[in-house]
Amino acid sequence: MTGEMSPIEQAKFVAANRAAELVQDGMRVGLGTGSTAAWLVRRLGERVSKEGLKIRGVPTSTATAQLAREVGIEVVSLDQAGWLDLTIDGADEFDGELNLIKGGGAALLQEKIVATASDQMVVIADAGKEVETLGAFPLPVEVIPFGWQTTKLLIEEALDTMDVLGNSVTLRMNSEAPKVTDEGNHILDLHLKRIGNARQLALVLNQIPGVVENGLFIDICDKVVIGHGDGRVELRNLNEGTVEVGEPRSGDNLFSDLAG
Ligand code: A5P
Repeated sequence: MTGEMSPIEQAKFVAANRAAELVQDGMRVGLGTGSTAAWLVRRLGERVSKEGLKIRGVPTSTATAQLAREVGIEVVSLDQAGWLDLTIDGADEFDGELNLIKGGGAALLQEKIVATASDQMVVIADAGKEVETLGAFPLPVEVIPFGWQTTKLLIEEALDTMDVLGNSVTLRMNSEAPKVTDEGNHILDLHLKRIGNARQLALVLNQIPGVVENGLFIDICDKVVIGHGDGRVELRNLNEGTVEVGEPRSGDNLFSDLAG
């Protein structure tokens, strides 16, 4: 199985494994959603069963909740946990200030609530997610189903006054029907190409009735763990201004942990 992993998948895997080392006994941990976060959850499950690591996990989607239970992590709700020590999640894009676009997996609402309720948020990503300016990845916006077409028009109108390069807005579909999020909402994807002022856009979008939340995570993330296809991992700490680079482990198969 390992030999068949693409470089991107390997990059996600090593980033997730490095981030899993940041989790300590007794922590309440926000568990992100997506393919990178799924590697993290599996790794934490492994630490629970092999090392006896004791954590409580707050999942950010039904998919993550199911995986976390399957791998033996104790799952609690955010309200049961109260506040979290650490949240680790993937991202669709991140810039040099660790501002993010999230929501490619339609879980941005719970992801933002959970990340905001954490002492620290760590993003795990393959190197291809790093951008100079956010916006090439379509920005997901969660809207309530009632009057979504009106909400879409209001968003399009607002975009006319924003520093963006594109302004097309599409409803995310799940085959024939609109995608329904875990909170029963829809997702509008904003094809902006380049977001000149992400902070301003995030505020403007959330003023529009019908918008529940947008996928811009501004000033929420503290650290990023960047994985590379050759097994190198970089950990950048925004607050401390430090960068730690880990070389691939020499010797036998770096990804052998996957075999089981
Ligand atoms: C889920 O809604 C997203 O925010 C994901 O965290 C993001 O799309 C990254 O997903 P991958 O890890 O699958 O690339």
